[in-house]
Amino acid sequence: MLAVAVLAAGKGTRMKSDLPKVLQPLAGSTLVERVLASCEHLHPERRLLIVGHQAERVESTLAGHGGLEFVLQQPQNGTGHAVQQLLKPLQGFEGQLLVLNGDVPLLRPETLEQLLEQHRASGAAVTLLSARLADPTGYGRVVADDSGAQDSGAQGGAQSGTVSAIIEHRDCTEAQRRNTLTNAGIYCFDWPKLAAVLPLLATDNDQGELYLTDTVAMLSPAMHLEVADADEINGINDRLQLAQCEAVLQQRLRRHWMAEGVTFSDPASCTLSEGTRFERDVVVEPQCHFRGDNVIGTGCRIGPGSLIENSRLGSGVEVLFSVLRDVAVEQGCVIGPYAQLRAGAHLGAGSRIGNFVEVKNSQLGEGVKANHLSYLGDADLGAGVNVGAGTVTANYDGVRKHRTAIGAGSKTGANSTLVAPIQLGERVTVAAGSTLTDDVPAGALAFGRARQVVKEGRG
Ligand code: UD1
Ligand code: MG
Repeated sequence: MLAVAVLAAGKGTRMKSDLPKVLQPLAGSTLVERVLASCEHLHPERRLLIVGHQAERVESTLAGHGGLEFVLQQPQNGTGHAVQQLLKPLQGFEGQLLVLNGDVPLLRPETLEQLLEQHRASGAAVTLLSARLADPTGYGRVVADDSGAQDSGAQGGAQSGTVSAIIEHRDCTEAQRRNTLTNAGIYCFDWPKLAAVLPLLATDNDQGELYLTDTVAMLSPAMHLEVADADEINGINDRLQLAQCEAVLQQRLRRHWMAEGVTFSDPASCTLSEGTRFERDVVVEPQCHFRGDNVIGTGCRIGPGSLIENSRLGSGVEVLFSVLRDVAVEQGCVIGPYAQLRAGAHLGAGSRIGNFVEVKNSQLGEGVKANHLSYLGDADLGAGVNVGAGTVTANYDGVRKHRTAIGAGSKTGANSTLVAPIQLGERVTVAAGSTLTDDVPAGALAFGRARQVVKEGRG
């Protein structure tokens, strides 16, 4: 039997934020959701979340996660006090309790699995995760058989040993601070044994709080499992650590996609979301950002300098210095430089959207060209329409939006204004500089402008 408890009641004073720390976002999802996701595959019988600071806000953020038991910790008197709140809900529980700090979001699921396996195999009262950090400032230090070693050298894999205590950074002597074996804040306890010592915790430390870490010295045998990749145990207490974790996640994502056949010409300058999927042979140039859920088709060339969010791109699409949000682009389109595609834009195969063109809530047929300085909003364009420079769909009458339809093969001249609602049939030609307010039948040429007047000798 396994129960998981996530500690998420703290305020996160060092973040200096109105948002509770565990709700801070990291690569598109909150810290606490990441922590919950890291233990999902273990299929625990019970999942308990200890909440306190802004408890309702944390609970409502997690409302969609079924089967969570929220346990209130009021006031928040330390991590030991937080786990003491489980004495009642876990009364009579006989299994293991996996405790996860809500601010340690980079743990790999396999690492937790390994921790649980080792704990069960060794029969220890507690097994905790540790790592050697180059700079362990702020973290608790693990006093273990092997903790005298300053450098574990080439880390071939996980190491383990017995532990006699954990000492918080602020309670350490100078000599103890030189110990780089760091407590991750992730523990697997034999619950009945932990329950027996929880009431014995005292506040005799620098912060005057009840520390969960103090139970380790009261339990025997206590073991630690050292993870090879120290990045996994990064805890987030301030904005610098938040940024460092974001960098680690971004690097993981980029490495994953490079291994799947994506070229990044300057990987460090690009950011990805977990919901972005690339097909093979995509080339991502510098300064490109992918947010939300995207599919980027085979052989697309993105960037430099583009933002793509919640969009689907077919194969061989090129995007240069442009912003695409909530759009679908079929194969072979060329977009930019400096185009903006907004919600509900759908570009047919082989379309071309050029500089300073904005498209919103519009369906473009195959091979539409809008190369310069245009606004297409709430419009339906047939195949092969050529949109002249400066063509604008005047879709808003001040109260409501109206649609514009332009039939296949039509051409609008430079600086045309199409006042919606309006329908142009197929193969229509609109003279440059026209303002059209009435429908135009197929095959017609439409003018909507004042005649030029020339008065000689008056110049
Ligand atoms: C803690 C550990 C430290 C470890 C580090 C790893 C203790 C005493 N120290 O320190 O050994 O190296 O994590 O990141 O445990 N929380 C509550 N209720 C409280 C206080 C905190 O639920 O009363 C929650 C917080 O929301 C947070 C987690 O517990 O998610 C850890 O608390 P935090 O204050 O960040 O502890 P650290 O100082 O980081
Ligand atoms: Mg912390």
